[in-house]
Amino acid sequence: MISSPAVERRSIRGHYNLSTLFYRMLWGPHLHHGLWRADESAWVAQVHLTEKLAELAGIHGGEKILDVGCGMGGSSIHLAKKLRCHAEGVTVSPFQQKWATLSAGWHGVSNLTRFQCLDVEQAVFEPARFDVVWSVECTEHLFDKPRLFQNACAWLKPGGRVAICAWLAGEELQRAEQIQQVKDVCDGFFCPSLGTSSDYVAWMEQAGFRMQHVEDWTDRVYRTWEICRDRVRRFRIRSIARLIDQETVVFLDRFDTILDAYKTGAMKYGCFVAQKPV
Ligand SMILES: C[S@@+](CC[C@H](N)C(=O)[O-])C[C@H]1O[C@@H](n2cnc3c(N)ncnc32)[C@H](O)[C@@H]1O
Repeated sequence: MISSPAVERRSIRGHYNLSTLFYRMLWGPHLHHGLWRADESAWVAQVHLTEKLAELAGIHGGEKILDVGCGMGGSSIHLAKKLRCHAEGVTVSPFQQKWATLSAGWHGVSNLTRFQCLDVEQAVFEPARFDVVWSVECTEHLFDKPRLFQNACAWLKPGGRVAICAWLAGEELQRAEQIQQVKDVCDGFFCPSLGTSSDYVAWMEQAGFRMQHVEDWTDRVYRTWEICRDRVRRFRIRSIARLIDQETVVFLDRFDTILDAYKTGAMKYGCFVAQKPV
């Protein structure tokens, strides 16, 4: 795991309050990478990532899902609409919580979804409440990642699954340049640390899960940042960000850092599904 001690809790909340609108303009309602099969649009690729994770997690319909780091509710609303799942989303951003709630109403799934502004690291849920603990690109922001998996194991029913997509550090990085790239990504994107794929497997197994899927999707998600970087240039989004705050400008400038980190192998993108024993 590579850590960046400079990242603070309040800056993560501030970042999502301020930049959610940029993400929405640049990318859409899903605040996560696209997963490409061929030359489909970015939107199709984003939905495909959600559907692929749902397939690997064995979500067939009607499950109770905890969506950790729910953003604008993209995954929860999709799973509610397509599979009639009951989704509870948590986000640290009050702005996102309101957006997700309004969006669920717009999509006609208010009765199947609920969004709370809550730090998952402080959250308490009753034992065995969920069938699936789902988290797409949120664990990067957690200060105590192993603890999430211990909690998730308690919150899940026996046989329940944890389904995760996460930005990762490459395994056993030696070169100073690669380590610096991961630290720059952590600072620019407000991640206290990035774990490796082996770290995630160890944290899940130590929490009592049995691994079902561990996949490296790096090559299939890489295009996300090329598209975002091109859109920032085309729509002059950097000039708008300058009016808001310097941290948002730094965040936009770090799109190249993340592309470089993927190119050198400093960063990877992983998908994990693990089951709580029956
Ligand atoms: C990159 S976005 C992903 C959003 C969503 N999963 C999606 O795929 O559209 C990261 C999300 O994690 C949330 N987050 C970060 N730290 C969190 C914490 N400690 N507790 C709850 N949510 C958190 C942010 O508020 C944001 O919604």
